[in-house]
Amino acid sequence: MTKNIDWQNLGFNYIKTDYRYIAYWKDGKWSEGELTKDNVLHISEGSTALHYGQQSFEGLKAYRCKDGSINLFRPDQNALRMQASARRLLMPEVPVEMFIDACKQVVKANEQWLAPYGTGATLYLRPFLIGVGDNIGVHPAPEYIFSIFCCPVGAYFKGGMSPTNFIVSEYDRAAPHGTGAAKVGGNYAASLYPGLIAKTRHFGDCIYLDPATHTKIEEVGSANFFGITKDNKFITPLSPSILPSITKYSLLYLAKERLGMEIIEGDVYIDQLEQFKEAGACGTAAVITPIGGIQYGDNFHVFYSETEVGEVTQKLYNELVGIQFGDIDAPSGWIV
Ligand code: COI
Repeated sequence: MTKNIDWQNLGFNYIKTDYRYIAYWKDGKWSEGELTKDNVLHISEGSTALHYGQQSFEGLKAYRCKDGSINLFRPDQNALRMQASARRLLMPEVPVEMFIDACKQVVKANEQWLAPYGTGATLYLRPFLIGVGDNIGVHPAPEYIFSIFCCPVGAYFKGGMSPTNFIVSEYDRAAPHGTGAAKVGGNYAASLYPGLIAKTRHFGDCIYLDPATHTKIEEVGSANFFGITKDNKFITPLSPSILPSITKYSLLYLAKERLGMEIIEGDVYIDQLEQFKEAGACGTAAVITPIGGIQYGDNFHVFYSETEVGEVTQKLYNELVGIQFGDIDAPSGWIV
């Protein structure tokens, strides 16, 4: 039986669900993972995840389709990205099959927490990999935990698919050749203070410029940026210090193959925003959040509108979300 929840007004918050998956890495191998009801981890006080940020996480969603079946969207891509993060932080990789199997187990065990079709709500899966075990020096951990929990979620930014304003931050979330491309907690810890400043000023979050020159857009809070030029090109930044968003790569594909647009991954200069008729933030949590305007110093630049969603942004959203909920044919391998 589906839980009795106000699915339309969920937001993006932790809700304790019934089961989570946990596996342990010790002596060079992963344990047989299992489901547990316990949402509290008991780990050594010397765990590298606590002191040196040796950890990585992922985010993906399960979707209830019209026929009652459940879709996962490109979980192999999350598995591969977590492997890349693990390599960057000298952690053991979780095999792709183990990652996907764990996702399936968690979704099946918590099926009651998955919103009915048509509500727009989804079940957000949060896989994480952490260094644990007794340790004090700056070394890779002797042991690791891989776990996945899930929470029912609605919109990440208040308003969901309606325009949100953002402000350019003076702070960087990642260094030019640091860990920006890895999905590791340190990048997000670094974003808390600039994010708070943005929210205090009533913006949805902040825009980060490239840390080397502070001239190019890199990320929108914890999401990627895209812009639609006045001559209808889909442009999104390419940089070694941004997180390679699976949603962003999916939109690049859909813009080209389904909407027939020219696509460009390249530099997006903050002083060249006039080239865009529409802009948005994209990510698993944010899905597509249209950007109303961007505050940069004293200048506030409005793209399409602060209240209305642009036509191309809406088409991309419909295509992406239609695929995720099983209403539109998916490119091969996207849906599990
Ligand atoms: C996601 O989109 O899944 C993210 O990782 C953003 C998150 C930090 C809320």
